[in-house]
Amino acid sequence: MTGRSTSDLYHARMRILAVVGSLRHNSVNAATARAAATRAPTGVAIEILDVSDIPLYNGDIEADGGPLAVVAMQHRVAAADGIVFFTPEYNSSLPAVVKNVIDWLSRPPRSYEGTAVTAIATTPGRRAGAGVLAHFTQIMEHQPTRLFGETLGIGSYTGKLDADGELVDPATLEELHDFLERFADFAATDAGG
Ligand code: FNR
Repeated sequence: MTGRSTSDLYHARMRILAVVGSLRHNSVNAATARAAATRAPTGVAIEILDVSDIPLYNGDIEADGGPLAVVAMQHRVAAADGIVFFTPEYNSSLPAVVKNVIDWLSRPPRSYEGTAVTAIATTPGRRAGAGVLAHFTQIMEHQPTRLFGETLGIGSYTGKLDADGELVDPATLEELHDFLERFADFAATDAGG
C-alpha cells in the first residue's frame, strides 16, 4: 500500500455534487456520473444529486418559499465544494434540465456562490458536446460561482459502453479521472488553503 500524498490530504473530505442533465433511466450522462462517483480522486466524494423533482422555475412558487425539492437542493449545494454538470447536448446547447437547475441556483440565497463548477458532456457524435460546453461556459461566466477553466467532452460514446450501458472504455475513464483530479485541485484552492 502506498502512503497518502500531500495532495490527497489537501483533498480530505472534499464533496463534489454531480448534477445529471438527463432524466431518462438509461442516460449515458448518468453512466458517466456513476463512473466518476466510483472512481473519484482520493479524498473526494462525488455524490449524484437527484434533480428529477425540481420543477420548472416559476417566480410565483419561488415567492411562496420555494418547493421542498429546491430548498433541499440549495442545502446540498451550500455544503458542497464543487458541482459537476454531466450534461447531454440538445440542439447544440443545454438541455432544459441543466438550465433550469442553474436558473434556480442563480436566485437567492444563491447557494452556489463561490462554488467551483464545471461540465462534462457525453454525446454520440465526434464533436463531443462542443456546443453545449461553449454555452455552459458562456452562461456560467456571469454566475457567482468559480468557473473551472476546463470542461470535458466525451464523444462517440457508443463504443465506450458495456452491454449494461456503463462507461468502461479505459482511456476515457483515465481521462475522466485526470480531469476530476484537476477540478478537485481547483476546488480545493477555494477552501481557504
Ligand atoms: C439530441 N442529441 C444530440 N446530440 C448531440 O451530440 N448534439 C445535439 O445537438 C443533439 N441534439 C439532441 C436534441 C434532442 C432533443 C435529443 C433528445 C437528443 C442526442 C443526444 O446526445 C443523445 O440522445 C444522448 O444519448 C442524450 O444523453 P443521455 O440521455 O443518454 O444522457
